Amino acid sequence: MNKNILILDDDENVLHSFARLFRKSKLKFEYSDDPLVAKEFLHQKTFAVVIADYNMAGMNGIRFLNEVELYSPSSIRVLLTGHTDSSIAIDAINKGQVYRFISKPWIADELSTTIDQCVQEFELRQKVTELHDLSVLQNNELRDLNKNLDIKVKERSRELHKANDGLKESLLGMIGVISELTENHCHALSHHPRRVANLAKSIAEKYGLSSLQIWKAEMTALVHDVGKVTLPPNLVKKPRHLLKDSEEESLQGHILAGEHTMRMIPYLKDIAVLMRHQEENYSGGGFPDGLKYEEIPIVSRILKISNAYDEWRNGVWGAVQFSHENVMDILTKITPDVYDPDLLGILGDIFKNDSKVEGDLIEIRVQGLSPGMICAKDIHTLKGILLLPGDTCIQAEHIKRIQAYQKTDPVIEAISIYREGA
Ligand SMILES: [Fe+2]
Repeated sequence: MNKNILILDDDENVLHSFARLFRKSKLKFEYSDDPLVAKEFLHQKTFAVVIADYNMAGMNGIRFLNEVELYSPSSIRVLLTGHTDSSIAIDAINKGQVYRFISKPWIADELSTTIDQCVQEFELRQKVTELHDLSVLQNNELRDLNKNLDIKVKERSRELHKANDGLKESLLGMIGVISELTENHCHALSHHPRRVANLAKSIAEKYGLSSLQIWKAEMTALVHDVGKVTLPPNLVKKPRHLLKDSEEESLQGHILAGEHTMRMIPYLKDIAVLMRHQEENYSGGGFPDGLKYEEIPIVSRILKISNAYDEWRNGVWGAVQFSHENVMDILTKITPDVYDPDLLGILGDIFKNDSKVEGDLIEIRVQGLSPGMICAKDIHTLKGILLLPGDTCIQAEHIKRIQAYQKTDPVIEAISIYREGA
């Protein structure tokens, strides 16, 4: 606790009176009758209280207290005066920032109490200043902490995004493998999952689903027939009308087998559920749960119609290929309660408004190219050289060029061709 008190008065009697009065006090007094000496004291140490006489020869006490601000701004300033003029008080407060007045002659107890109060005020102000400094320090630390936290959150977000991208890539790779396994199991299924996925994606987009739902529609379609790898290929490709009851039952069982397979893959359980309901009938009574209308997930309804369209259109059953018009007749007239009517409308619109939709594509290898075909997408070599832009009618010289590249920089992707008459 700071107990330093400085008293400036050019009247030595006053200084002696102070000294007598406070000779037993615990406060530490410094006395001066000269403002210059008093300023030297202020340079040497901090005083809790500075008391100056108003009427001194050579310097006004208010002016001195005003200058104390420069040397010891935290000191409590007190003016000693025998005047009661209010203009002095106003000047003392405004110019000298005086906290108290002590009138001459003083009453000893009152003087002692006043000086004690001044010391306490000094302590209080010191505490407020310390708390303020502490609060500024803590605020700065908090700001730095928040800044670091922000940097760490951004770093973590970047790591999570990277991990998420890696996970997505792994899932896509896994789905690609499953789709290829299905296609390779039976010739009738060759390209079928990819065509169904293209059509399901087109329908989902036109229906206005979210990007996540569109992605699910495409992915579910790619793996929707994986359960068929548990069945003999001859059964998979057998025309439906020739199936015996037991074979029909076995074929239907592929849905649950496929669902079971997909459930084993973390993060693909949603896809497993959507696959489970791919054979539900819109009006009810379908397999396996007999759901109807909106109870059937929209992605499952899209998959059902996309799958059926491709099976009829590309002869997945029994190698008989129906025209687009015939397939639409089958879906809308022969089996009207089986498909979501809104989706039937979208399917019709897709082929009416844009005959070159991805759902009406066939995918072939380089060996299957022939003049007159129209490629739907750019044809690139393995090293990325563009051999032919999309929507080009393929000529004999194009085929020669593509075949020439096969020896050094082959086209390894399947080539998408618009179906003739589409
Ligand atoms: Fe299928």
